Amino acid sequence: MIKIAPSILAANFSKLADEVKEVEAAGAKLIHIDVMDGHFVPNITMGPIVVEALRPVTDLPLDVHLMIENPDQYIEDFAKAGANYITVHVEACRHLHRTIQLIRSHGVKPGVVLNPHTPIETIQHILEDIDMVLFMTVNPGFGGQKFIHSVVPKIEQLSTIIKEKGLNVEIEIDGGINAETIIPCAKAGATIFVAGSAIYGKEDRSKALQEIQLAGEQ
Ligand code: DX5
Ligand code: ZN
Repeated sequence: MIKIAPSILAANFSKLADEVKEVEAAGAKLIHIDVMDGHFVPNITMGPIVVEALRPVTDLPLDVHLMIENPDQYIEDFAKAGANYITVHVEACRHLHRTIQLIRSHGVKPGVVLNPHTPIETIQHILEDIDMVLFMTVNPGFGGQKFIHSVVPKIEQLSTIIKEKGLNVEIEIDGGINAETIIPCAKAGATIFVAGSAIYGKEDRSKALQEIQLAGEQ
């Protein structure tokens, strides 16, 4: 089953609640929230107060993608704000296992994110402790970038490992996803797809979301 997670980074921030409700009605399965600190990535976006403000607005799980240094410092705040998933970059975590345990201790589902160049070997020994692996198919920091195709073989390799080990880890893809780029990723075994500009950049968000969903289910 394919789940679409619209990224509010591409939404109209002056009416964020309506923007979230619109994609929920259109069939989104998660709301993706991009947190950037101006250090780990060259952009600054939003913090726990935005998660807290959106919590009563939707019944969908809030998928909080932390593109920040020292994620441990903010995990409690995001958990209390109402995050359902918190994903951290392997490149930003010195003690990844500790960070994952910390996320779980707050009752939140932990996931690990890999930048396009980061090999899957970096998470080989933590797969049993996480609920999600998020593959970046752009360099993190901005919406609207071009999909990097060379990530697809990594998705395939990890999907095979997950199946062989019989693990319950979902594969999510983030960056440049649209009705074309979703196809090789879904074939490779990913099930959750973030889409920012391909949904919020379109006038008819519902149609855009459904087209991406249908393409992924082919
Ligand atoms: C990029 C973010 C993405 C971004 C995706 O750093 O992590 O979630 O919002 O935007 P699109 O779908 O436009 O590539
Ligand atoms: Zn993201």
